[in-house]
Amino acid sequence: MPMNFLESLKRCTTVVADTGDIDAINKYRPQDATTNPSLIYQAAQRPEYGELLEDAIQHALKSSGDRAARREAGMDKLMVNFGCEILKIVPGRVSTEVDARLSFDTEGTIAKAHRLIAIYDDAGVSHERVLIKIASTWEGIRAAERLEAEDIHCNLTLLFSFVQAVACAEAGVTLISPFVGRIYDWHRKERGGTEIPSDDDPGVASVTRIYNYFKKFGYRTQVMGASFRKVDQIVRLAGCDLLTISPDLLAEMEGIQGEVKRCLSVEAARSSDEKQIHVDEKTFRWMHNEDAMASDKLSEGIRKFNADARKLEQFARGRVENMITV
Ligand code: E4P
Repeated sequence: MPMNFLESLKRCTTVVADTGDIDAINKYRPQDATTNPSLIYQAAQRPEYGELLEDAIQHALKSSGDRAARREAGMDKLMVNFGCEILKIVPGRVSTEVDARLSFDTEGTIAKAHRLIAIYDDAGVSHERVLIKIASTWEGIRAAERLEAEDIHCNLTLLFSFVQAVACAEAGVTLISPFVGRIYDWHRKERGGTEIPSDDDPGVASVTRIYNYFKKFGYRTQVMGASFRKVDQIVRLAGCDLLTISPDLLAEMEGIQGEVKRCLSVEAARSSDEKQIHVDEKTFRWMHNEDAMASDKLSEGIRKFNADARKLEQFARGRVENMITV
């Protein structure tokens, strides 16, 4: 039977859609889906998802507390509204990200995760189908460790350094999202903008190393490569536990006939020459700080997710003002 790259990849890796575009999820039938504040900001502006925004606005207007508390309640509801729609399509899980302003606040992250899970619960969605997406800061990883102990599952995102991955595995988080494309972007810029061939791609190398390390030392944390720029990066990570892919790249993969060869495997990982390390707070901060790319990209990622979440709030506020003047 002739096969395309997407069908072939699905045979060795769980394919996840990286989008807030519900129609695209419907089209590519992934197992899970991931969202982030930037993706929800893009999706919320589309007229076809207007009802999800309206509902969140109504929820905010009915909520108690001051203006800031109502705005926060509306944003939480909007994130969950998208998650619930996505869960009508995917058989697996959806990742819902906590507010980037909580990236250095363990208690605040835990409280936010409880609120998101409670809203999902009100909508009849089990916590088993939700991954709370948290930035892989020291504070975020500590929050995830405590949430996992309560059986609330987490996806640790904005993961750029090896030490972030090790800390997540030691904390027993369900899943990590090491970024490929943003690592690639950083190195490409450093090299004056010239394209980096895939066999030398630092983003691909980062995920490969993390995967090998986790499998070699038997960590249960799943590895989900994220943030892709080209099909070749995806293909070189075939065999990874999961890969989350944007609709554009899913479409490209569907259009390429042929089979994808498995590149990562537990067997190969076991014979990799990684040595086990253990990470406390001092080691984490030191090793992460020593990695200029990871330090830059983690800070920038938090700033960008925060900026898009604030733009989304502004957009919703514009809608409320329209409702009042109409
Ligand atoms: C998924 O978890 C990430 O949020 C996403 O893959 C980031 O992708 P980007 O680097 O293309 O924004």
